[in-house]
Amino acid sequence: MFNAKNNSITIFVITIIMFSLSTHQLQALDNGLALTPPMGWNSWNKFGCDVNEDMIREMADAMVGSGMKDAGYRFIVIDDCWQVSRDEQGNIIPDPERFPSGMKALADYVHSRGLKFGLYSDAGRMTCQKRPGSRGYEFQDARQYAAWGVDYLKYDWCHHGKQNAEASYALMRDALKASGRPIVFSICEWGSNKPWLWAQDIGNLWRTTGDIRDCWDCGRGKHSGGWTKILDFQNGLESYAGPGYWNDPDMLEVGNGHMSTTEYRAHFSFWCLLAAPLMAGNDLRSMSADVVGILTNNEVIAVDQDSLGEQGRKIRDDGDYEVWAKDLKDGSCAVILFNRSKKEKKISVSWEDIGFSIKSAQVRDLWLHKDLGSYKGLFSTRVPSHGVVMIKVM
Ligand code: GAL
Repeated sequence: MFNAKNNSITIFVITIIMFSLSTHQLQALDNGLALTPPMGWNSWNKFGCDVNEDMIREMADAMVGSGMKDAGYRFIVIDDCWQVSRDEQGNIIPDPERFPSGMKALADYVHSRGLKFGLYSDAGRMTCQKRPGSRGYEFQDARQYAAWGVDYLKYDWCHHGKQNAEASYALMRDALKASGRPIVFSICEWGSNKPWLWAQDIGNLWRTTGDIRDCWDCGRGKHSGGWTKILDFQNGLESYAGPGYWNDPDMLEVGNGHMSTTEYRAHFSFWCLLAAPLMAGNDLRSMSADVVGILTNNEVIAVDQDSLGEQGRKIRDDGDYEVWAKDLKDGSCAVILFNRSKKEKKISVSWEDIGFSIKSAQVRDLWLHKDLGSYKGLFSTRVPSHGVVMIKVM
């Protein structure tokens, strides 16, 4: 029998579980960094191992010249392949042919442009491209990064053998802290060990999936490949993210050439609704006006950078037609109407769907930069194939 006593015990146990879950989420890493999702550029998606100091300098120049810096982008991060070996004292050695001036000079240059500088390493013996990893050298590497002026570390998970993920990432967190320099810590273990359950006080962001690719839904993996597959995996992770600790659905593919402007706009809109880190992954030196327009849309970026730090979630799923929403600090709500189908489709969102109890609400289109007026009960509009309409409801 389910009597009153059982009932109150059940309620007590549920309260305790919910309390411990919520306190766990609130325990952010105490480095005070990334209180909004980090924004920057990373070399991997476009260039892979083909990195060198001239190109990194040009990328910093382009981040400033294109208006991306003004839009909020800060970090210039060199991914895998900058490192070649260790010296007799165990110090990590940058590739002398590709980085002849050394990392300190490069970091100084990036800083001189008002930007921040990031590097990549790996918790295992080797990086994914078989360069030296940080296993056994965590504190020495962190001291070296600090001496060079590194502001951001992406830390990968290849060649980890039997290492425990949580302990390995906590070790590098401690090493970065001991270095005395504030360094954003980006965990990249592809979601293998569900970092959203344990990484809030270890890293500022953690990858949730395998690698993104520049396509709509290509790739064989369930949690890697085209951005729509990665998007699907983010839904349900929203309660684990907040100011200082973000789910990372991987770097942007906007501008890498294999998707349409409509598809890139949708990809960018979703990353902003998810409060995802915005790390551009294209060649900033040769962007079309459309690509610059996407990457610097300040109204959409404001949704990403909203100080409430909510990750948006799916609130309606009608097969190919979806509605996603994100509450914002000022009490308004950002909404994406998403059409996955091959044909244009009319999609609507009701005020009830987004938890608004008012009759009429103001709607602003964040891509048209236009107030659309006041709407009673719901908003309905045509959404292009593979595209979004992104609005703010107030
Ligand atoms: C992968 C990682 C990529 C990139 C690559 C470099 O593990 O997910 O984003 O960093 O390694 O080798």
